[in-house]
Amino acid sequence: MRVALLGGTGNLGKGLALRLAILGHEIVVGSRKEDKAKSKAEEYRKIAGNVRITGMKNEDAAESCEIAILTIPWEHAIETARELKHALNDKIVVSPLVPVSKGEKGFTYNSDKSAAEMVAEVLESDRVVSALHTVPASRFANLDERFDWDVPVCGDDEMSKRIVIELISEIEGLRPLDAGPLSNSKLVESLTPLILNIMRFNSMGELGIKFL
Ligand SMILES: NC(=O)c1ccc[n+]([C@@H]2O[C@H](COP(=O)([O-])OP(=O)(O)OC[C@H]3O[C@@H](n4cnc5c(N)ncnc54)[C@H](OP(=O)(O)O)[C@@H]3O)[C@@H](O)[C@H]2O)c1
Repeated sequence: MRVALLGGTGNLGKGLALRLAILGHEIVVGSRKEDKAKSKAEEYRKIAGNVRITGMKNEDAAESCEIAILTIPWEHAIETARELKHALNDKIVVSPLVPVSKGEKGFTYNSDKSAAEMVAEVLESDRVVSALHTVPASRFANLDERFDWDVPVCGDDEMSKRIVIELISEIEGLRPLDAGPLSNSKLVESLTPLILNIMRFNSMGELGIKFL
């Protein structure tokens, strides 16, 4: 599939680009700056080998893809989705967004409404799928790392959700699990501040999750 990683120049974008590209998917790394997108795409190609990774501005990446993943900090991602509404029309849009804040007592979930529902609202789309919130970016981007993590997936359009579940299941070590409609996304997004608190208060490195 042709997958656009909007803001794919950052932490989560890197792992997704590498791991999807080595499976044979065509990856478009999006950025606000074309130069940055192209140089990151080159960097990822050097790591992943003979793969299809190109770089372009977010708008062109969104226009050209079948699936777009919003790998942008949540406080900027909603505005970016609004700006790209036309380009993202009818596309499957994956939200890994987590509204999280760091305070004196630890990390908290920082929104009344889930980020994925906000994205669906600005795009006026039922093809928004919420996933990948609990995949820790650094470990995921290290191709030598082996893991066994679950990935809860929420969405309202069953076909879009199935396609995203299928895509995630191709990545060795990830098990996507249907977590219901998009209105459940807040529950899934809230797992991340919990994980960050567990990491902090137990002096642990990056953690994924597994339902046993
Ligand atoms: N990090 C993790 O472990 C992790 C795990 C699961 C889910 N997530 C979620 O994934 C998303 C991305 O996280 P990340 O850690 O990969 O983020 P990040 O590395 O901090 O940023 C990703 C990219 O966002 C773009 N960006 C920054 N400010 C922007 C703005 N004002 N407007 C538009 N684009 C902007 C930048 O791309 P350009 O400068 O190239 O435009 C940047 O490279 C977040 O919503 C996060 O909650 C993260």
